[in-house]
Amino acid sequence: MRDIVVIGAGGHAAVVADAIRCGRDTVVAFADADPAKIGWSLQGASIVDEARIGASFDRDTYLLANGIGGVRDTTLRRRVQEQLEHDGWRFATIRHPAAIVSDHATIVDGAQVLAGCIVQAGAHIGRGAIVNTGAIVEHDCTIGEWTHLAPAATVCGDVTIGAGSIVGARAVVIQGIRIGAETLIGAGAVVVRNFEGGGTLYGVPARPIRTKA
Ligand SMILES: CC(C)(COP(=O)(O)OP(=O)(O)OC[C@H]1O[C@@H](n2cnc3c(N)ncnc32)[C@H](O)[C@@H]1OP(=O)(O)O)[C@@H](O)C(=O)NCCC(=O)NCCS
Repeated sequence: MRDIVVIGAGGHAAVVADAIRCGRDTVVAFADADPAKIGWSLQGASIVDEARIGASFDRDTYLLANGIGGVRDTTLRRRVQEQLEHDGWRFATIRHPAAIVSDHATIVDGAQVLAGCIVQAGAHIGRGAIVNTGAIVEHDCTIGEWTHLAPAATVCGDVTIGAGSIVGARAVVIQGIRIGAETLIGAGAVVVRNFEGGGTLYGVPARPIRTKA
């Protein structure tokens, strides 16, 4: 059984904490940087100051879980975890017991596969990535580091999605597509063409609305 401190005390943190408890591990506390939350509690666990977790918890005994979500941007989630890892903390891989994960899929350390998602054979889920509630990752997909597949997103077979991207709720990426890094795909979009990355796509079929300068 693992004792885990969840970083963040918002909506994604609460979902991650549920997944931890369903897996029979223990959430010992939440840690947040927002002074308005520190000293309060969430789901019966106290919210401590993220800047002072080293004073409360021993990094050789406790693991961390990344409870920072990423609806438009995954940068904060990545930056906070990388800083804490640099400080010597280890992040737990979170796997909800109601996630269906092939024995032939790879879930890299620190990734999160949440309730009701399905990850099929040959799929690779990168470091710090989120496969959120009910998302589907079909066979032989590669999901980049820190990328967030939002609830009910469907990534069909042999798709590659670059690092730091977001696939919106109920969006579909059809088979064989290549999506570059830092792409934001709108909710409900259907992606039928490759996209080099660094912009936003939405609609059916999905078209770019914005690209980085
Ligand atoms: C695509 C998205 C990033 C656009 O956000 P935005 O840049 O703030 O765009 P706006 O909300 O200003 O909308 C701009 C236009 O696009 C339309 N639009 C926005 N999102 C859309 C979507 N997903 N599909 C189709 N049209 C969309 C709006 O209706 C608006 O149209 P209008 O100009 O005719 O009024 C966002 O709407 C989205 O879908 N994000 C993903 C949300 C999600 O899946 N969250 C999961 C949380 S776990």
